[in-house]
Amino acid sequence: MASGAGTMFFRVIVFSAIVAVCVAQPPPRFNCSSTSKCRSLIDYIPPNATTVQDVMKLFDVKHLLSFLGSNNLPMNISSSFALPAFQKIKIPFNCKCENGIGLSDKRPIYKVQSGNTLDKIAEITFARLVTSLQIAAANGIPDPNKINVGQELWIPLPCSCDDVEGNKVVHYGHLVESGSSVSAIATRFNVSEATILKLNGIADARDLKASQVLDIPLKACSSVIRQDSLDFPFLLPNGTYDYTANNCVLCECDAAKNMILDCKPSQLKPPSQKSSNWSTCPAMPCEGSNLLLGNSTASGCSTTTCAYAGFSKQTIFTNISTLNTCPGPEGGPQDNPNSASRTGSQGLNLVGLVVFMHLLSFGSLLIQ
Ligand SMILES: *[C@@H]1O[C@H](CO)[C@@H](O)[C@H](O)[C@H]1NC(C)=O
Ligand SMILES: *[C@@H]1O[C@H](CO)[C@@H](O)[C@H](O)[C@H]1NC(C)=O
Ligand SMILES: *[C@@H]1O[C@H](CO)[C@@H](O)[C@H](O)[C@H]1NC(C)=O
Ligand SMILES: *[C@@H]1O[C@H](CO)[C@@H](O)[C@H](O)[C@H]1NC(C)=O
Ligand SMILES: *[C@@H]1O[C@H](CO)[C@@H](O)[C@H](O)[C@H]1NC(C)=O
Ligand SMILES: *[C@@H]1O[C@H](CO)[C@@H](O)[C@H](O)[C@H]1NC(C)=O
Ligand SMILES: *[C@@H]1O[C@H](CO)[C@@H](O)[C@H](O)[C@H]1NC(C)=O
Ligand SMILES: *[C@@H]1O[C@H](CO)[C@@H](O)[C@H](O)[C@H]1NC(C)=O
Repeated sequence: MASGAGTMFFRVIVFSAIVAVCVAQPPPRFNCSSTSKCRSLIDYIPPNATTVQDVMKLFDVKHLLSFLGSNNLPMNISSSFALPAFQKIKIPFNCKCENGIGLSDKRPIYKVQSGNTLDKIAEITFARLVTSLQIAAANGIPDPNKINVGQELWIPLPCSCDDVEGNKVVHYGHLVESGSSVSAIATRFNVSEATILKLNGIADARDLKASQVLDIPLKACSSVIRQDSLDFPFLLPNGTYDYTANNCVLCECDAAKNMILDCKPSQLKPPSQKSSNWSTCPAMPCEGSNLLLGNSTASGCSTTTCAYAGFSKQTIFTNISTLNTCPGPEGGPQDNPNSASRTGSQGLNLVGLVVFMHLLSFGSLLIQ
């Protein structure tokens, strides 16, 4: 079975986390004022041995591949894969800003079981990612001591969709391990200590507490995603992958590639559910060129790529992007990957063409 190889992967990507019993924590609460929804990540430490599918069910994670990609796990791990107790994993979820704070977008929903109290649900089942008072407030429960078996509770996970210091980021709710420090966390996630302290309203780095949930802004790869795309803004942190456009497109983020999303056709089929009326994935050409999504051609200092630009109910969008790979007077994109992907002023010249791919016409070409 896959478990031998899987265990090895887990040793590489997860960190055993014995969290100290702790005094009252400030409730996790991240500022968020963006108008668009986004994807976020949060750590989870299962209280007992479990499986990928049980954790996905607990957090309403729909796609196995998104779960695997968020943890940079191999794509061939199955949903019955065993997850050991007390080992940290990352959960992907949708975030929405409301009244200045970010919360998971009306999910996950937890069904109260016999013997549950709000404290147990918050502290054990959801590993202190929320407090019982936050669950009570989010669900309009007047008396936190009174919940009923079978009652459905929205678990409001903390998150944010805001840019940080002008950078496109994926906000990651990091559960602080006992013995950790702000400087260790800063180094591990390539964020400055000052940014962590400011974003989390921590006056002194020594005030960090075990099992506190920190807002860590992970620098993200981006692409020329259209604002009207169903997956806008579609950002991925370094070292992760995800599927989008009804599973038809696979994107990866490698910080070494100028923080530009690397997307290509996935070779998967769209899900056969009513959310997608695609029976097959469309071809993904860049109009006006002979490039397909993910193809690049280089000539001299410029590399032309057929980039992913989002999707709608009917189509997948592409955009021809030209990246200047020679260092300019102020340093090339290698020296400043973020501004290259964000503003296009230092090397990313977009001579874009968005291609509307009408499924019916391309679909029929594909099937035969
Ligand atoms: C999963 O893929 C890896 C290569 O990425 C391979 O070595 C391994 O044997 C595969 N496992 C299974 C169960 O297919
Ligand atoms: C494992 O933990 C989950 C979440 O707290 C709980 O629902 C489940 O009953 C536990 N399973 C066992 C075997 O203890
Ligand atoms: C992030 O990583 C880059 C490349 O490894 C490095 O140059 C930079 O100093 C790091 N930044 C922080 C804040 O750690
Ligand atoms: C969050 O927003 C509030 C209201 O704008 C502000 O007072 C507070 O300082 C912010 N917190 C952090 C950590 O930035
Ligand atoms: C990106 O992730 C890789 C490992 O996946 C790591 O080696 C590299 O330092 C990271 N780069 C940045 C800038 O975070
Ligand atoms: C273009 O992309 C397609 C689909 O990913 C791939 O099969 C093909 O090999 C690529 N062609 C070139 C020239 O890179
Ligand atoms: C299904 O596809 C057709 C053809 O592309 C499109 O016109 C229609 O709006 C789609 N319906 C939904 C519900 O997405
Ligand atoms: C391609 O992307 C760029 C950058 O977002 C944008 O300015 C341009 O309008 C896009 N092309 C089309 C045809 O939409």
